[in-house]
Amino acid sequence: MIDRQTIERILDAAQIVEVVQEFVPLKKRGVNYLGLCPFHNEKTPSFTVSPSKEIFKCFGCGKVGNVVNFIMEHEHLSYPDALRYLAKKYHIEIVEKEASAEDLEKQNERESLLVLSAYAARQFSENLFNSEEGKAVGLSYFRERGFRESTLKKFEVGYSFEQRDALTKKALGDGYLKDFLVKSGLSIENESRIFDRFSGRVMFPIHSLSGQVLGFGGRVLKTDAKTAKYLNSPESEIYHKSRILYGIYQARRSITQEDRVYLVEGYTDVLSLHEVSIENVVASSGTSLTQEQVRLIKRFTPNITVLYDGDPAGIKASIRGIDIILEEGMNVKIVLLPDGEDPDSYSKKVSNEDFLKYLRENETDFIRFKTQLLLDEAASDPVKKANLIRDIVKSIAIIPEAITRTVYIKECSTLLDIGEEVLYHEVGKMRQQRSFQDRNRYPAPEDLPVPPPVITSQPARKEFTTHFSEKEVIRLLLKFGSTELERHINAEDGQEEIVTVSDYVVHDITSDNLTFDDPVLLQIFDEFKFASEQGTFIEEMHFVKHPDPVISTLAADMLSEPHTLSKIFASKQTYVETEDMKLKDIVPDALLKFKSDKIKVRLKEIMTKLEEAVREGDNDKILELQRRDQNLKMALRAISEKLGKRIIL
Ligand code: CTP
Ligand code: MN
Repeated sequence: MIDRQTIERILDAAQIVEVVQEFVPLKKRGVNYLGLCPFHNEKTPSFTVSPSKEIFKCFGCGKVGNVVNFIMEHEHLSYPDALRYLAKKYHIEIVEKEASAEDLEKQNERESLLVLSAYAARQFSENLFNSEEGKAVGLSYFRERGFRESTLKKFEVGYSFEQRDALTKKALGDGYLKDFLVKSGLSIENESRIFDRFSGRVMFPIHSLSGQVLGFGGRVLKTDAKTAKYLNSPESEIYHKSRILYGIYQARRSITQEDRVYLVEGYTDVLSLHEVSIENVVASSGTSLTQEQVRLIKRFTPNITVLYDGDPAGIKASIRGIDIILEEGMNVKIVLLPDGEDPDSYSKKVSNEDFLKYLRENETDFIRFKTQLLLDEAASDPVKKANLIRDIVKSIAIIPEAITRTVYIKECSTLLDIGEEVLYHEVGKMRQQRSFQDRNRYPAPEDLPVPPPVITSQPARKEFTTHFSEKEVIRLLLKFGSTELERHINAEDGQEEIVTVSDYVVHDITSDNLTFDDPVLLQIFDEFKFASEQGTFIEEMHFVKHPDPVISTLAADMLSEPHTLSKIFASKQTYVETEDMKLKDIVPDALLKFKSDKIKVRLKEIMTKLEEAVREGDNDKILELQRRDQNLKMALRAISEKLGKRIIL
C-alpha cells in the first residue's frame, strides 16, 4: 500500500503532457495539446491534454481523466501500479504503508517465486542457445519446425537438460532456497531426493501482463516418449492457469492497435502467428477458456476471433468457450481451419498472404458456425434440428445486450427458417430460467426475469431522483468554489468580508439541514464544508488529483465540460455569456433547484406513509403527515416562484 503523502508527491510531480507524450505524439494548440486518441481509432485528432487543468479528454470517444487515469487506461495497470509507474518516472521513492506480518510473508513469497522463475527462464534460455546439448537437441528441433531464432528470443523460449536434477542443483548452488524451488513446481521433492519437474523438454515461459515469468510449459522432444506431450507448472502463489493467457504480454500492444485478438489453442500456434506478423494472438494453453481469461482480453478489446483446428472432436469440446465469450458481452468471430490443420501448421503450409486471406474469408459468426457444424447431420432429422435450434437459442440467451440478441435472433430465423417470435419467446424463457439459477450471483438488472407485458391503467413512471441537481451543485463547487461571489461589510468590525461560492453553497445547504444522497458527491461536499469551516481554500486541482480514482475521474469529467449553461438557464439565454459572469444567478438557482428536488422526494415519501396511515386508520399520524405535506408544498411553491421570476427576467 502506498501512503497518502507519497500519492500526493507523485501527483504533484507528474506532468500530464510529459507523461502522455511518451505514448501519444502531441501538438500544441492554444493552451492545450492535441493528438490522435490512443483509446479509439481516429484519423483526425480529437484527443486533448490540458496542462493547466491537468487532465486529458477525447472528444471522440469521451475518455477523460487525470495523469494516473491515463496510465491506468493506456498501460492497463491497477491504480497502485499506475502510481508506481509514475513514481519511477519521476524518481520518487515509494513509501509503502505498513502491511501485516501475513501480508508481508505472502508478498515475500510471491516476490521470491517471481525472482526464481525469472532465474529459471534465464537458465533454460542459456541452455537452449549456449550449451552443446541445448543446441543439438532443442535448437535443432525448433529449426526443423521452421521457427526463427528472433521469435524464440521474443518468447524467451528455452531448454531443460536431460539430467534429472540439473536445474535444481544449479539453483541451490546459486543460493535459491529449496522451499521456493518446490513451491514454484520447478523441483519435485520426495522422501529420498529432489529432482527437476522438467527435463529434456523445450520450455515455454508463461508471462504475466507486465512480462514477469509466472510458470512454464515444457514440450517433450522424443516422439516415443511415454510422458505427456506437454507438462505445465502446477498452480502456485504466482501461477494460476485459469487467469492467464499465453502470449498476452507479447500481444497487448497489438491487441489494442488492431482492436481484436485471435485466440488459439497452443504455444506453437502463438509463435507461428507472430512469424506471419499477426501479433494480436493469445492461447488458452490446452485448458478450456475461463471467464477470467475472457475478462483479461476484454480489458484490451471487445473483439475476439477464435481459430479452431480442423478436427471435429476438438471443436465440440471447446465450443463451450464461445458461450463464455458471449456471456461477457464480447463480439466473437470464428474461423475453422482446413481439416487436420492447426494455426501453426497451416500458417507454415501456405504463404502469409494466403493465410491472412483464409482468415478474412472464413470468418463467421457463432450462429453460422454452429449451424454449419451441426446442420449436416440435423438437416434431415427434425429432432436433431430442434436440438440445434435449442443449442443456438441457449447461446443467444446468454448475450447481455438486448440489441445484439435481436440481431442474432433475426439471423437465426433466416438461417434455420424459423419464426422470429418463436425465437424471442424461447430466448425470453431461457433468460428467465438463467436468472433464476443465478439469483445468488448478483444478476444485472437487465438479467432479471422480464414479466410478460401487462396493460395497466397507470404507466410506470421513472423513479424521480435528486441526482442531477446534486451533481450541478458539486460541479459549481468544483469549478468556481474559490471564486468570489459577493462581499459583505461585517457589522461588528466594519471589515469587508469576501464570500466565495463555496462559502455560500456550504452555508445555504447546511443551514437547511440538507445533504447529498450520492455518497461520492457527499464526500466532495464534505471536503468543501470542512475547508469552509476551517476558513481555508481548496486548491483548484485538489479533486482532479484526488487519491480516490472515483473522485478524480468525476472531477476531471465535470471540469472538462465546456461551459454549457444549466438547463434552467438555457431558456433565458439570449446572448453568449460565460458562466462565471452569471455566477450570482447560477449559484442560487442551482441551490433552489437542489432544494426543490429534495422537497419533491420528501413529498413522495410522505405520500407513501400517508397511504399506509390511511390503511391502518391511524388518524393522528394522518393529520401529522398532512401538516408536513402542506408545509413542504408551501416551501416548494415559494421556491418555484423565485425560480420562475428569474426565468421571466
Ligand atoms: N497441452 C497440454 N498438455 C498436453 C497437450 C496439450 O497442456 N498433454 C496444451 C498445450 O498448451 C498445447 C495445447 O494444449 O500447446 C495444444 O495442444 P496440441 O495441439 O496437442 O499441441 P500444439 O500446440 O499443436 O503443439 P505442437 O505443435 O508442438 O505439437
Ligand atoms: Mn501443433
